[in-house]
Amino acid sequence: MECFAIFRPYGRRSCQIYTSLIGKKNMAQIKKQKIPWNHNYAYKHWISEKVGNRNSILDVGCGDGTLALYLRTTDNDILGIDVSDLCIQKANEKNPYSNVSFVRTAFEDFQASSERFDVIIFVASIHHMDMGNAIDKAKKLLAKKGVLIIVGLAKPTSLFDWIVELARVLPSKMVSAIKKNTTSEELNIDVSYDLPTMDEVRQIGRERLCGYSLRYGLHYRYLLTWENN
Ligand SMILES: C[S@@+](CC[C@H](N)C(=O)[O-])C[C@H]1O[C@@H](n2cnc3c(N)ncnc32)[C@H](O)[C@@H]1O
Repeated sequence: MECFAIFRPYGRRSCQIYTSLIGKKNMAQIKKQKIPWNHNYAYKHWISEKVGNRNSILDVGCGDGTLALYLRTTDNDILGIDVSDLCIQKANEKNPYSNVSFVRTAFEDFQASSERFDVIIFVASIHHMDMGNAIDKAKKLLAKKGVLIIVGLAKPTSLFDWIVELARVLPSKMVSAIKKNTTSEELNIDVSYDLPTMDEVRQIGRERLCGYSLRYGLHYRYLLTWENN
């Protein structure tokens, strides 16, 4: 299912509604933390809502560990993996918690121990990999009822995609200015722009992720989720 909701505010209000429904304790812990704002962390509330009370989390391409540390509660276990030595070094320097760990490995080479993950997250990282293969591997690593969360970048190709692309330029720039956007470059993360097209993302979703949900985010991202039912 795909929906067009780029202006939906995933801010404090949705966080509060969620808090009152489920995951009171986890969300309360998460909400208190402030992290730098950028076009990826703009979706932190949306991601934490999707994570909910699920406990074992794999953050693929975790960068400097900011999101993993943001999602950490006293009840969950988080593993961040990244192919970059520098990112893992930075993540480890920032991490005082025993239930969060960071390991340097490419996702393609990642060997999980026997247990599966309740949540697997890719934030601005899946376009560095062969997306189809990465999704196939993530599905194998995901527990029953587990959720796959992707905040991804893709190129517009269809007329509709281009309309969305243009429609989000101004509001995204305004929000970025207000929020004081910090770019990945400032965070010292090596980025490449070999992006799939939105049509390729949709095709991978249709072929591999039955019942997936995909929508456009305001900040040039698509937001994809899939539950392993
Ligand atoms: C644009 S950064 C995003 C980092 C972080 N998720 C964030 O939102 O700040 C992409 C990250 O993916 C990592 N990466 C790229 N290819 C990878 C691979 N094959 N396996 C694991 N990590 C990878 C990079 O080292 C980089 O840290």
